[in-house]
Amino acid sequence: MAFQLLVTAGDGIGPEVTREAVSVLQTVFARSGQSLEVTEKRIGGIAIDTDGTPLPADTLEAALASDAVFLGAVGGNKWNALPPSTRPESGLLQLRAALGGFANLRPAFSIAELAANSPLKLDIVSGTDILFVRELLGGLYFGSPREWNRAAGEAWNTMRYTRDEITRVARIAFDLARKRGKKLTSVDKANVLEVSQLWRSTVTDVAADYPDVTLEHQLVDSMAMLLMTSPRNYDVVLTENLFGDILSDESAVITGSLGMLPSATIGGRVNLYEPIHGSAPDIAGKGLANPLGAILTGALVLRHSAGMDAEAEAIESAVRSALQLGFRTADLVRASTTDFTVLSTTEMGKKIRELLPA
Ligand code: IPM
Ligand code: MN
Repeated sequence: MAFQLLVTAGDGIGPEVTREAVSVLQTVFARSGQSLEVTEKRIGGIAIDTDGTPLPADTLEAALASDAVFLGAVGGNKWNALPPSTRPESGLLQLRAALGGFANLRPAFSIAELAANSPLKLDIVSGTDILFVRELLGGLYFGSPREWNRAAGEAWNTMRYTRDEITRVARIAFDLARKRGKKLTSVDKANVLEVSQLWRSTVTDVAADYPDVTLEHQLVDSMAMLLMTSPRNYDVVLTENLFGDILSDESAVITGSLGMLPSATIGGRVNLYEPIHGSAPDIAGKGLANPLGAILTGALVLRHSAGMDAEAEAIESAVRSALQLGFRTADLVRASTTDFTVLSTTEMGKKIRELLPA
């Protein structure tokens, strides 16, 4: 049976990077003799413009019927005046909730060829290999009550977690730590928030089942600093939704470009795959966008949803080869250097396909 991939390319650079990722996937499937069926549906701002809602019913239906969902990016200046509940981003949040994936895996790694691009010193970033496990369906994003009471000039959101929600994401993080460096850092704000005290006590309880994994707790404010001063100290980092949103963007500076990073959301009915970068409306349609984060996200589809580990590695090694050979998109080059071959979005996609094993 064909692997059913639902593609929701979304807004801004979403469609252009997604096109390259999908074409890399098509190449890989064809070469391994497996069949891939790609369906495209609208989400985000483009769906607001054409369907009047950021998550049309047929998109949701197709997502639930698929083997994996690949999302490009959502949002843009055009829709910035809308309230949170009707913005492009709310389409993504509704999709996340419906698919049910609660563990968002976001790597932050240093790539030797790009290490000099990081604003951090080389000896600080070199060798960094962090995997964030961001809880994706709880906390301030989904907690109620939530409201902006305009008349009262008051607004509130709720950071709420249950022991079960924390336990299930902690288990995924510990399982991953066990297969990696056997260290788990749980991030909270337990010196101020009750919800963080529950988080810390629950994670500590789960740790009893993983005696081979070293658990440490960090407060989110000091973690924000430690990630920049000693990123190599971290292996798996487990956090609640908003802290994970913030720390994973911060940690992208380790890689040197947000455009390189993939993510996978697992644990629910259907896994959801998104590059970490946003819709970057300022460079959309100019051929400047870096498709490598999206292409590496395609590798995660193969690994986590298609059971095609070797093919996932082939994509990852093609990306490494392209960098080693000096191929770059504009975001990866500083104005002053001439040592690289700068490629457009589509040229980089083509290069990766050429570098895949035959
Ligand atoms: C991300 C994004 C989303 C989030 C937005 C677009 C809703 O920033 O995936 O990190 O906050 O989760
Ligand atoms: Mn974010």
